[in-house]
Amino acid sequence: MKILIIGSGGREHAIIRKLTLDGKRRFDQEGIPMPDLYAAKGNPGMASLAKCVPIADDDVEGLLRFAKEEAMDLTIVGPEVPLSLGIVDAFLDAGLTIFGPNREAAQLESSKAYAKKFMQQAGIPTPSYAEFTDMTEALTYLEAQSLPIVIKADGLAAGKGVTVAYTKEEAIRAVKEAMQDRVFGDAGSRLIIEAFVNGPELSVMAFVDQSGFKMMPAIQDHKQVYDDDLGPNTGGMGTFYPVPIATANVIHQVRTEIFERFVAHLAASGIVFRGVLFAGIIVQAGKPYVIEFNVRFGDPETQVVMELLEADILSIFESVTKDQIAQTSIMWSNQPTVCVIIASKGYPGAYRKGYPIEGLATLSQKAYAIHAGTAFDEQGRIVTAGGRVLGVVSRASTLDQARQQAYQAIDSLSFEGMHMRRDIGTRKSNLNV
Ligand code: GLY
Repeated sequence: MKILIIGSGGREHAIIRKLTLDGKRRFDQEGIPMPDLYAAKGNPGMASLAKCVPIADDDVEGLLRFAKEEAMDLTIVGPEVPLSLGIVDAFLDAGLTIFGPNREAAQLESSKAYAKKFMQQAGIPTPSYAEFTDMTEALTYLEAQSLPIVIKADGLAAGKGVTVAYTKEEAIRAVKEAMQDRVFGDAGSRLIIEAFVNGPELSVMAFVDQSGFKMMPAIQDHKQVYDDDLGPNTGGMGTFYPVPIATANVIHQVRTEIFERFVAHLAASGIVFRGVLFAGIIVQAGKPYVIEFNVRFGDPETQVVMELLEADILSIFESVTKDQIAQTSIMWSNQPTVCVIIASKGYPGAYRKGYPIEGLATLSQKAYAIHAGTAFDEQGRIVTAGGRVLGVVSRASTLDQARQQAYQAIDSLSFEGMHMRRDIGTRKSNLNV
């Protein structure tokens, strides 16, 4: 069997690692041959597990050509950009099997206005909002709003299109930057201005198809770059499980008010969704509100979720492509798990690349490295090649022990300017709910 994974970050490495572990187990127990794994473009962490092919994730034609030539049995899409470009529609039209939502459903991530309208029609709890394509109207609306207030670019902005404004000046600046200076290009020509909800965040993903959904364990990400949630937002500096605010009551509300309403509204509106829905949630006074939908696995949430998954990931991907997820049972470990991201100095701003990474060979199964922004240099050394470079994952019988194992492993890694938070999994704000 041939499987192509599209993407080159930590999320895709974690998926390929899990496919490999499950494949080995199936081979040992049942003699089923290992699948041939391909990654586009992949990274050095994936290179020992999959054949890496140099096709960019937004090159839909190139990916389709490759998948046809190689007669791929299954393609799994990691990032949002190819989904928003309609890669799933193109593969399905060509008779290929692919895991991910089609272009119409991918608007739930590629257009915040589309997502908010969907949530409102579905009755999914989400902060109140207004939508603008005219800057003067947006600025007039702001005058009557209380603070803080949230300004969001409608389109994909590589995680940078959201401003939480604490003063009117900040709010006005955010509107002008998007609509007048066009710092996000077309992505900011439409804006959402949203009421601020205050509370800890929760990431809950689910496998979704036409038969229903299966939720994954609730994870929490640490978005700010420095300890104690200080500094600018990043793509995520570390994730952990279990999350204290994910009480049985909160999870019940997430299931019934978010995912059940989501699939009911899909059915009512005739939208086909096969893939992963990621609900970015804020829990305010014990009530979950969706602040964003993503139509793919989260990064670095996936690193923790793949460690917790005790079912065969390939069977789950196959179930979703056949609309059988409701009948598929999925087992999860409940052991505490962390993923600590190691970043380049300067990230999420400008950073330098090309620094050799030492110590990767010393890591063990107790705490292993998932590669994100890494590359081979001309001498074949593994060097830094991105803002988020590695994620170190560890699972143990207590969260303290998992943290300790992860940080011990990190102490044996080094590269110039290496930076990480030291407080992953210890957020105090969680305890105030
Ligand atoms: N960690 C958030 C995301 O994947 O978008």
